[in-house]
Amino acid sequence: MLRERLRIRQLLLAAFCVLVTMGSLQAQSKSAMKAMIKTQFDFAARQYKLMAKQTPADKMPQTFDPKTGKSVFSNMQWWCSGFYPGTLWLIYEQTGDKAIKAEAEKRLEVLAPMKHYKGNHDLGFMINCSFGNAFKITRDPGYAKTLDTAAATLALRYRPKVHAIQSWNKSKNFTCPVIIDNMMNLELLCWVSAHTGDTSYLHIAREHANTTIKNHFRPDYSSYHVIDYDPNTGAVIAKRTWQGANDSSSWARGQAWGLYGYTMMYRFTKTKAYLNQALHIAHYILTSPSMPADMIPYWDYDAPGIPDAPRDASAAAITASALLELAQYASRKDAKTYVAAAKKILVSLSSDKYRAQLGKNGDFILMHSTGAKPFGSEVDSPLSYADYYYLEALSRYKDWYL
Ligand code: GLY
Repeated sequence: MLRERLRIRQLLLAAFCVLVTMGSLQAQSKSAMKAMIKTQFDFAARQYKLMAKQTPADKMPQTFDPKTGKSVFSNMQWWCSGFYPGTLWLIYEQTGDKAIKAEAEKRLEVLAPMKHYKGNHDLGFMINCSFGNAFKITRDPGYAKTLDTAAATLALRYRPKVHAIQSWNKSKNFTCPVIIDNMMNLELLCWVSAHTGDTSYLHIAREHANTTIKNHFRPDYSSYHVIDYDPNTGAVIAKRTWQGANDSSSWARGQAWGLYGYTMMYRFTKTKAYLNQALHIAHYILTSPSMPADMIPYWDYDAPGIPDAPRDASAAAITASALLELAQYASRKDAKTYVAAAKKILVSLSSDKYRAQLGKNGDFILMHSTGAKPFGSEVDSPLSYADYYYLEALSRYKDWYL
């Protein structure tokens, strides 16, 4: 009897020791992540101050061409013009660096007239990632007004027969194209509806998201890049790619846009179909046989030449940020998987393999993204949106999981 009791006590002690060790390992891993995130934001502030010095007043940083050793800047119409100010706001939020805030405010002034821009569907990227963060951080009503105006402008591209927003204008290639990327622009519409109470924008966002579920996805929940529609009847003319390897391949950033887009739609609507769509896309990405061990995908999950194909750090950063939000809505088991995957991506991106040195890489933070491989454009290069979603994901990790 006494022996039995002793044995039970020994077993209980052993179990207690295991729990204490697990707890301290977890605490260790949390403090390591906290330190890593702080290091990356401190670095980002220093790197982006160098970026500020070399960026002309009327331009935004786009990329850096390692072949010529030259930085490339864009005009305000380029779909990425909001990422530089957006990134500055993310850095300011985490560091409180006043010089970074002043630079962000200066760049918003130059970007502001774009709230009237009708040339494409990218106003969500351009205005939400910049002014959206500015409003979230400062609560300045002037920024909210810019967001309201931009939503009204974007809504002009809604095509009622298609039940979706037209992405690009009619061209020799497409009649009324809608690209998977467009899911990201819905955040502007959802936010303005929630903020003003005008549900017409939310209605458009829902219609677009429903049409995209219907036509953009394959049975395995990978997505086409472009669906071309007949704007008079809403009929699908063709299912194509533009930036992917071929029409039936899975362009890596496209899968990330879809994942982020449906997670965000669930945040605003609590519609189960959007959550399910995001869960299925996450499953597709996380079980892809071509996903490398460091979880920075090739530019297309079906890219020719794997394992020597270029990577896309931007797709990884967007995926990490989306998974961290999706984990908030998923089952405990799935949430654990998503946070672990996002952590793995962020640790990889923060390593010397992907994160640039101070003053290198055109003063961008991340290396090894791919813009448009079929056109030989921005291949294995830094991209402003890779930096943006990387820092967004680091912020989310710190704010939600540490
Ligand atoms: N068309 C936006 C992108 O390259 O993701």
